[in-house]
Amino acid sequence: MTFPKPSAERLAASEEALRSLPGYTNHEPGEKEFAVLDPSTEERIATLKSLSPEEAIAEVAIADEAGRAWAKTTPRHRSDTLHNAYTLLIANKERLAFVISREMGKTFAEAQGEVQYAADYVRWYAEELLRPAGGYRENPVGGSTILTKRVPIGLSLLIAPWNFPMAMITRKIAPAIAAGCASVIKPAGLTPLTTLLTVELLVEAGVPKELMRVVTTTQSSAFSEAVLADPRVRKISFTGSTSVGSTLMGLAAKNIVKSSMELGGNAPLLVFDDADLERAVEGTMLAKLRNGGQSCVAANRIYVQEGIADAFVEALSEKMSQVVLGNSIAEGVGLGPAINRAAVNKFQHLVDDAVAHGAELRTGGRTPEGAGYFFEGTVLDRVPTEAEIANTEIFGPIAAISRFSTQEEVLQRANDTPFGLASYVFTENLDRALNVADALETGLVGINNGVPSNAAAPFGGMKQSGLGREGSHEGLEEYQEVRYYNIARREST
Ligand code: SIN
Repeated sequence: MTFPKPSAERLAASEEALRSLPGYTNHEPGEKEFAVLDPSTEERIATLKSLSPEEAIAEVAIADEAGRAWAKTTPRHRSDTLHNAYTLLIANKERLAFVISREMGKTFAEAQGEVQYAADYVRWYAEELLRPAGGYRENPVGGSTILTKRVPIGLSLLIAPWNFPMAMITRKIAPAIAAGCASVIKPAGLTPLTTLLTVELLVEAGVPKELMRVVTTTQSSAFSEAVLADPRVRKISFTGSTSVGSTLMGLAAKNIVKSSMELGGNAPLLVFDDADLERAVEGTMLAKLRNGGQSCVAANRIYVQEGIADAFVEALSEKMSQVVLGNSIAEGVGLGPAINRAAVNKFQHLVDDAVAHGAELRTGGRTPEGAGYFFEGTVLDRVPTEAEIANTEIFGPIAAISRFSTQEEVLQRANDTPFGLASYVFTENLDRALNVADALETGLVGINNGVPSNAAAPFGGMKQSGLGREGSHEGLEEYQEVRYYNIARREST
C-alpha cells in the first residue's frame, strides 16, 4: 500500500502555522495541562492549560460584562465587524487549514474547504443581521397596537465538537455576535487549536476580545455543571453526542436556559433503480467520505434497490479502492486518519462483526501497520440487519450497503431509528424524489446531493438528533428572544 508522507515544504508550513498560535507551547504536559496530538503521527503538537471550573466562571464574568456593551452596538457596526472577520479568515485560509489538518486529521484540501464553509457562516450573519425580523399586529378587539422585536438572548455557552473544529465554532459564534451576545466557548479537548486561532482572527477583525472567552479544559463535566449553574448564562448551543446533549439539557433545565442541540445521526441514503448511476456513486462517495466519514450527516445506512445494486456496488467499490490513505497534509491524499485509536478499533470491530454476520467485504477493511489512526476506505455489501454496523453511528469511512425491493419497504427501514438528522435520496424521478423526501423523518434531505450543508440552510435534526437549527435566519433566532410592546391607543381629536 502506498502511504504518502508530507513534503518538507508542507511540513514546514504546517509547523509555522502551529507556532503562530497565540501563546503556543509544546512541552511534556504538567499538572493542569494537556497535550494535543496529530492523529497522522500520534505525536504531540501543542500543550495547553486545562482551566478549572472556577477559572471558567471568571471567564463568564468577563464575557457577561462585554456582552452588555456589545448588545448596544448598532447592527451596522456588528455587520462591518463580521465582514472584516470574513475577509481575514479567508486571507488566513492556508494557515487555518494547516492547523485543522494537523490537529483533526482531515486532508489539507478538505481543511481548506472547511475554512471556506466556516467563513461562509460569518459572511452570512454579517448580511443577515441587517434585516431584523420584527412585526406589527393589531389587537383584534381594538384599543392597542402590538409591535414585536428580537433582542439578544444574552450570554451563550458554546460547546463544539472535534470533527469540524472551525465550522462548528463559527456556526455558533457568528450568529451570537450578530445577535449582540457574548460567548463562553469550549472547544473539544482533541482540537482546541483551531478555535484559538479563529477567535484570535475575529479579535483582529474588531470583535472585542472580552466578548468571546475560550475555555480549554479536560474537566468537561465539571465545567458544564459550573457554567450552566451560573444565572448569567442564558443560552447553550452544543454539538456532539445525544447522550451528552441529554445531560446538558438536564443541567440547562435547572435555570431554564434555552438549548440548541445538534446531536447524533444515523443517516439513511437511498438509491433507487431510476437513479443516475454516476451521480449516485459520486454523491455517495461525498456523503460517506467527507471528513473521513466523521460527520453527523455522513451516510450511515446505504440502501440500494435491487435493479441497480450490482452496478452501484461495483462502481462504488472501484472508486473507494482508489482513494489514497495517508498523512493528512501529504499531497494527493484523499483520506486522512481517524481521530483516535478507539475510533479505529471500533471500525475494525464493526467490519469483522458484519463479515461474521454474512456481509460481503468488497474493498478495504484493514488498519495499516505503524503510527497514526488509519483505516482504509471500505465497502461492505449485503449487510444484514442483525450486524452491529446496521444499527450504529459508524463515524468512519465504511460504506455499509444493504438492498431493498420497494419504496414502502425502504422508507420503513430508513425511518426505523430514534435519530433524524440527515437523509439522502438518489433518483431521477421528481415525483419520487419529493414523495420520498417528504416521508423521511429527518431535518435535512440531500436530493441527488451528497453535501446538503450550507450556511444559508437551517441545519438541524428531528427526534433524538436535536433541537433548534444552525445557519440561515433560524440560526440567528436561536440567540434572540422575542419581545413585544403592546401600545394602548385611544381616539384623539
Ligand atoms: C457535523 O457533522 O456535526 C456537521 C456537518 C455539517 O455541517 O455538514
